[in-house]
Amino acid sequence: MASITLRSTSTTAIAILLLASVALPGPVVANKDHDALTALKNGLQDPTGELNNWNPYSTDPCTWTHVECDNITKRVIRLDLGFRKLSGHLAPELGNLDQLEYMEIHQNNIQGTIPAELGNLKNLISLTLYNNNLSGHIPPSLGELQALKYLRLEHNNLSGPIPRELVGLSNLMILDLSNNDLCGTIPRSGAFQNIPLTSFANNPRLKDPELPGAGNNDNNC
Ligand SMILES: *[C@@H]1O[C@H](CO)[C@@H](O)[C@H](O)[C@H]1NC(C)=O
Ligand SMILES: *[C@@H]1O[C@H](CO)[C@@H](O)[C@H](O)[C@H]1NC(C)=O
Ligand SMILES: *[C@@H]1O[C@H](CO)[C@@H](O)[C@H](O)[C@H]1NC(C)=O
Repeated sequence: MASITLRSTSTTAIAILLLASVALPGPVVANKDHDALTALKNGLQDPTGELNNWNPYSTDPCTWTHVECDNITKRVIRLDLGFRKLSGHLAPELGNLDQLEYMEIHQNNIQGTIPAELGNLKNLISLTLYNNNLSGHIPPSLGELQALKYLRLEHNNLSGPIPRELVGLSNLMILDLSNNDLCGTIPRSGAFQNIPLTSFANNPRLKDPELPGAGNNDNNC
């Protein structure tokens, strides 16, 4: 009886060891960027073939056009897709590019919402999505991007209030939310103290800047 129990226990132990070795990290990390970019491509229409060499069967996205990797870690740090006649939507899997520093997708015709998953990009320095056709709310999760210096979302169709979470972006230097359909009041505390009011222009439903010490007024917004 005891020996049978022992044998089945060691079989289980071997099975666990085998599973563990299969799950060890290795090229898995490189595939994470590959899979995220493939999901992005699948959500876009690309009439001029800018993404033609984003081949799902080539495992190294560092060789793809408009993509830049860190030379040492081989992780994607930059995505340069500005002014490329792209339409479609932004895949939520973009939030898996966790080493990304620059996401430049401005001056296209991208629709749909800004994925809340972009709040996972802890190394992001620049997020430029201006001059597209994005709608829906600005995700409050963008307030988690503590490395962010440049946030340009102007000339879209974004609605809802300006998330108060954004005033905590302590490295923010440039913010532009102008020419959208935002509503409520303009925060003036924290990172927003030095942002010029022109960065909020042409949002017909946006009310006055908040007075120091006064709360926000996003009622019915
Ligand atoms: C990475 O390699 C490229 C090509 O060899 C080079 O131009 C670039 O300066 C390198 N970048 C860094 C950060 O070393
Ligand atoms: C912008 O997106 C809306 C849907 O949100 C669509 O109805 C409209 O046609 C788009 N505008 C352009 C110029 O593609
Ligand atoms: C902006 O989005 C609203 C829905 O939120 C839609 O009804 C409207 O057509 C859009 N405007 C443009 C110019 O795409």
